[in-house]
Formats: sequence, C-alpha cells, structure tokens
Amino acid sequence: MYPIQRNRRLRSSPSLRALVQEHKLSADDFIVPLFIIEGKQKREKIPSMPGYLRITLDLIPEHVKNLWSLGLKSVLIFVKISEKLKDNKGSEALNSGGLMHSAIKKVKDAVPDMVVMTDVALDPYSSYGHDGIVEKGKIINDKTVAVLSKMALSHAEVGADVVAPSDMMDGRILKIRQLLESENYQDTVIMSYSAKYSSGFYGPFRDALDSAPGFGDKKTYQMDFGNRKEAIVEAKRDIDEGADIIMIKPGIAYLDIIRDLKENITAPLAAYQVSGEYAMLKAAAERGWLDHDQIMMEQLLSFKRAGASMIASYFAEEAVKLI
Ligand code: PBG
Repeated sequence: MYPIQRNRRLRSSPSLRALVQEHKLSADDFIVPLFIIEGKQKREKIPSMPGYLRITLDLIPEHVKNLWSLGLKSVLIFVKISEKLKDNKGSEALNSGGLMHSAIKKVKDAVPDMVVMTDVALDPYSSYGHDGIVEKGKIINDKTVAVLSKMALSHAEVGADVVAPSDMMDGRILKIRQLLESENYQDTVIMSYSAKYSSGFYGPFRDALDSAPGFGDKKTYQMDFGNRKEAIVEAKRDIDEGADIIMIKPGIAYLDIIRDLKENITAPLAAYQVSGEYAMLKAAAERGWLDHDQIMMEQLLSFKRAGASMIASYFAEEAVKLI
C-alpha cells in the first residue's frame, strides 16, 4: 500500500529497469523470411514492402553469411517461380532441381549451422494461386495433402531442418510426419501453421510472390478471424499428428491467440509478423507519423510477452542491429 509500496521505484533508472524487465529480445528469437527468384545477380524491390528484397539464388551465400554474422540463426524460404512452371497440381513443387531445393542447398552450403525452414504450400506453384489442388472451384483436401507430404520430404532430402506447412489442409501434419518417419527423416522438425487466419494482412506477400488467388478467397481453408477456440483445437490436433512447433499468423492483431495457445499447449510457439504489418509500419514511418525503430521493437517484444518463443519477421535484420 502507498507509500510503503511505490510502483515507480523500480522504474527510476535505466539499469534498474533492465534488471526487472520480464521479456527481452535477442538474435536467437528470429526467423528471417527469404524471397528467392530465378536469374542472376538480381535484387528486386517489392513496392508494397519497402526495404525488403527478392534475391536470386547466387546471392544467397553472401546474404546468409551476413545474417549469420549478425547472430541470426534461421531462415524461412519462399520462392517465386515463373508463370510457365505453374499448374493445378503444383508439379514444380516436387522438382528436386527446382528453385526451392536449390535454395535450401545454397543456404546449407554457405552456412551449415543455419536452421533452414521451408514453406510447404502449393500457392506459389499453383496456376490458380491457391494452396491446394482445385476441382470444380473447390480446394480438394486429401489430394493436396498427398502432394504436400511429398513436397515436405523432398525438402528434407536436400537438407531442410524444418518444414513449415502453411496451407491449412486437414490432416497434412500426420501424412507429412508418417512419410518423414518411413523415409528415416526422424529429426526433421515440423513447424505447423496451426492457427493461420484468412487475413487481409497477406496482401504485400502475395505481391512479392505473385501468389494471389486467381478466384475466390482462402476462407474454406484458412481460419475465420472471429474465432479463438478453433485455434486451440487446430493446434492440439497438429501436435497429436506430429507437429513440433506451432505457428500463429498474422501477428500483432492476434496476440490473444498466442496467449491462448501459450496457456493451453506446451509446444514452442512461433509468431509470424506478416507482410501487411511490415508495410503498415514502413508506410507510417515514411510519412513521419510513427517512430520506426521504437514501434518495431515494441511490436517485436510484444510477441515475446504474449508467449511466442520465436518470431518470423521482415524486421529481423534491422532489429538485431538495434539489440
Ligand atoms: C501461403 C502463405 C502466405 C503467407 C505465407 N505463406 C499467404 C497466403 O496465405 O495467402 C503470408 C506471409 C506474409 O504475409 O508475410 N501459403
């Protein structure tokens, strides 16, 4: 009771505040998304993601060595493939000489200890821009899962440490886990996007990868953002099916979901601060309306406070330079 207790006592100097701070950010917390394109010596700007680049395969070694020197220990690979390689089944996703597989090898050759995570979903390979196979205007679950499991195995075969299915098909974790086990990839980690909401925040990412759905939306597979309990159900099922890490996405608008999962499951949680969140801060900072670095650090730390063990973020490189 006041004045015996004064809340401001422990806030009275920077050193005291540092001693009592409950949550901290470090380079260990980050997953760095990479956008890989075909060609040579190209760094392409993404208009809706200022400061973030798509890079060609040959630039990977230099890029990941730089990330490693900053203390960043994990990358999450996405690829943008040419339109002519796309079809309804995502055939190119299984091409062991394709862009994704080459990118995995490039990272591993350059920095063997870098944790390589890969996106497992059909949308960058789909002529329809959907995460699954389309028949009569519907996304067909089980046929898609059959392709996804082969895709995940093919990533593990060329060196991926973590496969990250972001497609939201039912039962894909079980099929991926069974196939990995049967092919002796016991140590391949599955990071499941268990709670992935159908969200407007993915817009800039779809620009970056040219992966916007050609018809309709993703509401028959991604979650309704009015729901909380469903996230717990999804995560528990994925853990039962063999997932090791549970991803929540998008990030800042979904901190309640991170906290719900923290309280209901024990698997490590990953938060994805998605492209739209990145774009909003960049845009506001460009206009001088928000202090970029301050908001960036505040948002990133709030993921930790909510309960995330790791954060996939386009700000990773900028943030570690400030830590
Ligand atoms: C698709 C996928 C998306 C993102 C990651 N994987 C977009 C979508 O579901 O349409 C979004 C990431 C971001 O916005 O930063 N499998």
